[in-house]
Parts: sequence; structure tokens; C-alpha cells
Amino acid sequence: MEHQELIFTNEVAQAIDTLAEKINPPKVFVLTDTNTSCLVLPRLRQVSRTIAEATAITIKAGDMNKNLESLSYIWEQLCDNGATRKSLLINLGGGVVTDIGGFAGASFKRGIGFLNLPTTLLSAVDAAVGGKTGINFNGLKNEIGAFKEATAVIISTAFFDTLPSEELLSGYAEMLKHGLIAGKEIYSRLLEFDITVSDPALLLELLEESVMVKKRIVEEDPTEKGIRRALNLGHTAGHAFESMSLNRQSPIPHGYAVAWGLIVELILSHLKHGFPSNELHRLASYIHDRYGVLRITCDDYPELLGLMHHDKKNENAGDINFTLLEDVGQIKIDCTCNEDEIKNALDIYRDLMHI
Ligand code: GLY
Repeated sequence: MEHQELIFTNEVAQAIDTLAEKINPPKVFVLTDTNTSCLVLPRLRQVSRTIAEATAITIKAGDMNKNLESLSYIWEQLCDNGATRKSLLINLGGGVVTDIGGFAGASFKRGIGFLNLPTTLLSAVDAAVGGKTGINFNGLKNEIGAFKEATAVIISTAFFDTLPSEELLSGYAEMLKHGLIAGKEIYSRLLEFDITVSDPALLLELLEESVMVKKRIVEEDPTEKGIRRALNLGHTAGHAFESMSLNRQSPIPHGYAVAWGLIVELILSHLKHGFPSNELHRLASYIHDRYGVLRITCDDYPELLGLMHHDKKNENAGDINFTLLEDVGQIKIDCTCNEDEIKNALDIYRDLMHI
């Protein structure tokens, strides 16, 4: 897989026009959802000639629309508007747009070039980078897709001024995860920064540092055969929290689920691999103060364990697979934990969160 170019800048229009000049496509398409078509596209059309001349394709916003119907609509629009193999698709939006647009790019005429222009912190730090593309199918998230990296990703904090603080905190949890994987220096800088206070220039620096953590891992293991599983830290417990909340019709933002999942998985890291308890307590109080708590009781444990057993990351029935840490920056992939260990970790989570 060829490696994608990452451009960190708040001069977005200039970056798009320079890239488009270099690629020189006969036709450009811009994919938006119903949010970015109103909030971002008109602004960009005024300042970027590439975007001003591009044919817009708009899908409905929301993860429930990351589906075959939207994908088919994108293919149809590309066909009807004369897209060729040399056309360029610019995905302008959050994770839904970069995931589905990436898959449209990977599959249309067996693959056309695409750029990702993430407009949320969550997509900038995670979804838009690293080549995982796809759609939800048959009630399962990201069930159909392909590994296909964007030609380039333009990462900017310029669009974040329209995001609610909940959305920023959600993306920041993935940055904390990258910090925990990378090492103490990056991690400590992240804990000192307040994402709810607007500082686009410093955020861009931290974002660059964080995305580079992911880029290095993806370059080593693009198709998740080994070390890329480090990026699943916090996600086994996190996905279970997210699915349980969704099943109960009270959905929580992905990054909040990851934040609480990180606590559970650092508890397991402490119990099984001696992760330092001072670091565990530091993260638990950081998350408690900013993200609040997900209230669970021991009656929720069977459902949570059931969801963890169904996680895509499990290869064998029985124990549950986690990525854990021996310390900040010291990763251990493919750690299995049994149900008693996980129940114990959930008990400690409730203590740490004062539930
Ligand atoms: N979101 C984790 C990964 O891209 O591997």
C-alpha cells in the first residue's frame, strides 16, 4: 500500500489548490454530508478554486447513513457526472464521510484518487488517517470495507470552531490513547492541555504529534496483523460501553466510551502487567473531571461481557483479547483476560469513578 501524505496546516484552501495542481485531475468531486455542506463547503468554495469548481455530492449526516444506500448514491453521482479513473474525490467531513468516501474512492472503477479533509477532531486524529475505509452492513459496524489510504490528508483545526465541546472531548480521547501508546512526554503534554479552551495553533501542534503516532504504527503494520492492534487500546471495553448505551437508546459519543474504556483497560494493565497505579489514578481523575462517569452496576456485567466476547478483535472463543500497557509507552498486544479479571476491573472502575 502506498503511503499517504499528511499535511498539517490552517491554510486549507492553499493546501487543496496546491495538491490539486500537482495531481492535475480532469474532474474534481467533493463529498460532504448535510452538516458540512452547510457549515464548511460554502466557506471553502469562496477561497479554494478547486472546491469552487468541484461537483458536490452530499449524503445524509450520521453513522446510521454510513450504509450501502449512501454508497450507491455516491457511485451513481460519480457515474452520472462523468467521473473517470483519473477523477479526484475530496472527502470533506467527519468519520462517516471519510470512511464512506474512502470506500467509494477504493471501489469506483477499481479505485480513484481521494483526499481526506477531516472537519472533526475525531476524524482528524483517527478515521481520516491510516486507510481503513468502509460502511456498516447487516447491523454490524464497518462490516464491509477496504484498506485504501487517501492520496493525502489535510489536517487542520480551522473547522473546529463550529464543533460543540462534547465533540472536541470525544476526539481528544483518541489523542490521549495515542499519548499513552507513545510515551510519557507526549502523554504529559496532552494532560496539561485544556481542549475546551480554544487554542487552534497549539491544538494543531498536539494533533500533529498525535497523528504521527498513528502514522508510524500504520506504516509498520498497515493491515492490522500485529502492532496496529496497539491502536485498539481502550476500545474493547469502550466498544462494549458504546454498544450497551446504544442498545438502551441512550447513545454516548465514541470518544467518551473510549475514555471510560481506557480506565478499565489501564486497570487490567495494572492488575496483569504492573502498570503504575499513580498513572492509573491520574488518568481516572482526568477522565472523571472532564468526561463525567458512565454509571454501571454489576447487573450490567453480563451484557458488557457478552459484547466484549463478540468484539471483532477476538480470535478464539473463551477469553477476551485486549491491548494493554506495562507503563506509558510500553505496549503489550494480544493480552487475554478471563471474565473474573474483567469483572474485577469493572468493580475497580466503579470505585475510581465514585459510583
Ligand atoms: N482506529 C484504529 C485504527 O485505525 O487502526
